[in-house]
Amino acid sequence: MSKNSQSVMDWIDARFPLTSSIKGHLTEYYAPKNFNFWYFFGSLALLVLVLQIVTGIFLVMHYKPDASLNAAGVPVAFASVEYIMRDVPGGWLIRYMHSTGASAFFIVVYLHMFRGLLYGSYRKPRELIWVFGTLIFLALMAEAFMGYLLPWGQMSFWGAQVIVNLFSAIPVIGPDLSVVIRGDFVVSDATLNRFFSFHVIAVPLILIGLVAAHIVALHEVGSNNPDGVEIKKKKDARGIPLDGIPFHPYYTVKDIVGVVGFLIVFSFIVFFAPEGGGYFLEFNNFIPADPLKTPPHIAPVWYFTPFYSILRAVTYPLFGIDAKFWGVVAMGAAVVIIAFLPWLDRSPVKSIRYKGGLFKIILAVFVISFFILGYLGVLPPTPGRTLVSQICSVIYFAFFLLMPVYSKMDKTKPVPERVS
Ligand code: HEM
Repeated sequence: MSKNSQSVMDWIDARFPLTSSIKGHLTEYYAPKNFNFWYFFGSLALLVLVLQIVTGIFLVMHYKPDASLNAAGVPVAFASVEYIMRDVPGGWLIRYMHSTGASAFFIVVYLHMFRGLLYGSYRKPRELIWVFGTLIFLALMAEAFMGYLLPWGQMSFWGAQVIVNLFSAIPVIGPDLSVVIRGDFVVSDATLNRFFSFHVIAVPLILIGLVAAHIVALHEVGSNNPDGVEIKKKKDARGIPLDGIPFHPYYTVKDIVGVVGFLIVFSFIVFFAPEGGGYFLEFNNFIPADPLKTPPHIAPVWYFTPFYSILRAVTYPLFGIDAKFWGVVAMGAAVVIIAFLPWLDRSPVKSIRYKGGLFKIILAVFVISFFILGYLGVLPPTPGRTLVSQICSVIYFAFFLLMPVYSKMDKTKPVPERVS
């Protein structure tokens, strides 16, 4: 560093902890040396978060949250999205980056969560990282749900109608609650305006705050790794973990490789298949919202479908309360139960590398049934499909609720002293 830039740094350091933060979080922050492919997805989730915020800012410059009809009889909100797609220079790119970005976000976050399952990253002392993660996942679902209303297409409208109606199944407060959420007796301009407000400012602020807490908690305890060995237990004379390497430059460079790989796949989808075969942008959403015409089949976007299947799997009323209510309870519980994983897993080892066959089989069955739930959630229900989704829902909950038992029964292998 030149003498001049050193004196600028000194000036800043006397007023703000710049050098010490760079050291503490980058150049002298020691991460395990054995990170693999699965460790790309945290930094990729950060990248997609930034991408969504930046493209979102540009979309808001042209988008209008207005359900009234323009001179051509098209809702203003829908027309403003078409205007972005056809007339705003580069608008199509910004919009497709944002809509594909939503699906990319969930792909990246699902893989990131699965990594946690594989390596027991939620175990002590990383419980809070996981709890913040579950809250991020919840906030992300709310963000995506409200964003999907904004183009004011048929699926936006009817999807919101179906989901908000679910709240009316809650005993006593339900009907009033759903009116409060909509701001009206049906999904309307009031709903569009409040969802817009939540989507562009309230939920993103919550998300950013939660992500900051997630990373602060991570840097307090340090990362887990594919072996599930705590690197802080074996340090050299200077107090540096023997199996640690400085985050910068080693992992900044590694993460750039992940970013380039991601951007190649992401660009391919944005440029050649932005609708993702009707999974990223549903075909019915290219038709303006029509409150008088219900589409024959209403399905949520793919990332919600496993949970939507769990909701539909509940078909029996209980204690005199409608099945719809219990469906909502089951769907909510399916997300919330994820937060309890750190206290359900009683295995003596963290990583799947040292777990026994029992855990591996159960994890495989869980993943397969999660995919089946996701697939069934896109299809219209039939008695056969409902039965399969009931079986898969039971497997989903059993994976969590029986974990204290099978994680103890599982025959584990000895964990090495140092990372392999
Ligand atoms: C916006 C969404 C998210 C962002 C930006 C994010 C970011 C990150 C980053 C940058 C890391 C460190 C790098 C890595 O280990 O891959 C990390 C670690 C971690 N995240 Fe997330 N995360 C998000 C969502 C989630 C969710 C939904 C969960 C779980 C419910 C979760 C659980 C974890 C855990 C357990 C770790 C520690 C992993 C380990 O040390 O092995 N994260 N996250």
